Amino acid sequence: MEFRCSCFFWRNVYVKRCALHVNYRNDEDFLVNYKKVLTESGNGDEASLKDIVSEIEEEVARRKNYGEQYVERCRVIAEKFKKKHPSVYTLSETQLTPKFKEILTYCQQPNANRNGLLSMIKTEAAAEVYSFSLFTDEFCDQLTAELDHIEASPVPKGRPNSMNNYGILLEEFGFHKSFMVPLRTQYLMPLARLLFSIWVEDGLDSHKAFIVRYALGEDLDLSYHFDNAEVTLNVSLGKKFTGGDLYFGKMKHEETRENELVEYSHVKGQAILHRGYHMHGARPLVDGCRYNLIIWMRSSSVRNDLCPMCNEKPDLVQCTGPGDGFTRTSPHQYNCQTI
Ligand SMILES: [Fe+2]
Ligand SMILES: [Zn+2]
Repeated sequence: MEFRCSCFFWRNVYVKRCALHVNYRNDEDFLVNYKKVLTESGNGDEASLKDIVSEIEEEVARRKNYGEQYVERCRVIAEKFKKKHPSVYTLSETQLTPKFKEILTYCQQPNANRNGLLSMIKTEAAAEVYSFSLFTDEFCDQLTAELDHIEASPVPKGRPNSMNNYGILLEEFGFHKSFMVPLRTQYLMPLARLLFSIWVEDGLDSHKAFIVRYALGEDLDLSYHFDNAEVTLNVSLGKKFTGGDLYFGKMKHEETRENELVEYSHVKGQAILHRGYHMHGARPLVDGCRYNLIIWMRSSSVRNDLCPMCNEKPDLVQCTGPGDGFTRTSPHQYNCQTI
């Protein structure tokens, strides 16, 4: 059984034209809360407000219909999509760099500790952001060739989140069981336990894995945001591009000034791990095309206490298709309903 917090249906709706995340219950409530900020950003006239409200309503409708549309997309993909490079759908140690295997071997030892791991990976300038070599160049090339094949296929594709208009939800194309689950449980968890111990104490027991794609004429940058994850993995897969650096600020709810942002440049095959609460964004792509694999890893024991998106005890709603990593620990604890 899969669950979301009911805040999914009205909170953190991204409005692209003013790069703003808003909460939306109805028109009246929205205008009372946001008219001032929209006016200040030059969007306070009637026509702009009308466009913004219809953009929000479209996103809210997408979220409400998500389960049904997920089932339909999976049905069409299963019927019509043919894999071109089947080997990339199954995780194999040949896809991992020798350096990563060395790091993993260390983390699997009973006396492995945080300092030992930190001596094998790079601590980035942004707090609690760690980078390490993960995938071989050859595997990155095979995977991006398959991603091009998926992009070119006429089958329907869901959007990874409300900020990305291009990209691939990997579960829908068959990467879940043989690739993403073992990657999370056998290969990433041993590192994450040492690096983010309080967030990973009871394990990262689910995830959402997707590809983001940036290219000229498509999405170019990504606004400042936090992830719906306890720990995020972000791996650069190439292809060839300039620009698109990531920038990190402080953790969610901390005050951040522009001059406190810290940059991170992508390196093909290299991964970063960071906390989902860590505010970040992506600078505009200047040229070329970049693909990144993103895995939002979740801990039900952490989020069952506090939903990261509304900062409240989650109000669980049973859903069709993938949920957001919550579990129902007691049938009396939450107000459950079926949508
Ligand atoms: Fe993100
Ligand atoms: Zn919530």
